Amino acid sequence: MRAPSDPPSVPAEIELSPMRRRHVRDVLAIERVVYPRPWSAALFFSEIAQRSSRYYLVAHLHKTLAGYGGLMCQQDEGHITTLAVRPEFQHQRIGSRVLFALVSEARQRGMASLALEVRVANWPAQRLYSWFGFRPVGVRKNYYSETGEDALVMWVDDMQGEEYGARLGRIEVAVRRA
Ligand SMILES: CC(C)(COP(=O)(O)OP(=O)(O)OC[C@H]1O[C@@H](n2cnc3c(N)ncnc32)[C@H](O)[C@@H]1OP(=O)(O)O)[C@@H](O)C(=O)NCCC(=O)NCCS
Repeated sequence: MRAPSDPPSVPAEIELSPMRRRHVRDVLAIERVVYPRPWSAALFFSEIAQRSSRYYLVAHLHKTLAGYGGLMCQQDEGHITTLAVRPEFQHQRIGSRVLFALVSEARQRGMASLALEVRVANWPAQRLYSWFGFRPVGVRKNYYSETGEDALVMWVDDMQGEEYGARLGRIEVAVRRA
């Protein structure tokens, strides 16, 4: 929680909520701008319908859908399936806020590890994931067929450990003060 003396800031006004079907039109508008091969509405509908194994969030800023992200949980392995912020809203810690919520949910659901794929050239996203403790563990060749780009596989193991809990605590302080 922000202390009463903390200065108000744009990210503090971000509201996170579960992604619903009514959000998908705005999600797709972002998807088309930030990804060379955007997901379809049908894919988002299918993902958010699987409530026991999926967790999708949207972030609103002043009623505008500014970003979103998703988590998939299978047995004790979590996977960040997507994370995106509208270009004009990037660099305001919205991505960090969404990722923090997804990672916290994964931890709460008892995931032992958490993985994701990211384009090898996507340094901003890799920096963000490194901050959250994701380490590169391998490369999937030609993972992104539309561009032939390789994916870097990053993961966090021992999500339930004290050390990772402490890292999340520090991140929480940082994102709330952003
Ligand atoms: C990746 C993406 C979601 C990040 O969203 P964002 O809202 O801009 O991210 P944030 O403002 O929370 O900040 C990310 C920051 O974490 C920063 N960070 C890394 N380590 C940090 C640390 N120790 N302390 C504080 N910040 C740190 C990164 O450097 C980056 O800062 P920048 O704004 O100076 O570049 C956004 O760029 C995006 O939508 N990109 C296109 C889609 C995409 O690539 N998604 C990822 C697919 S795997």
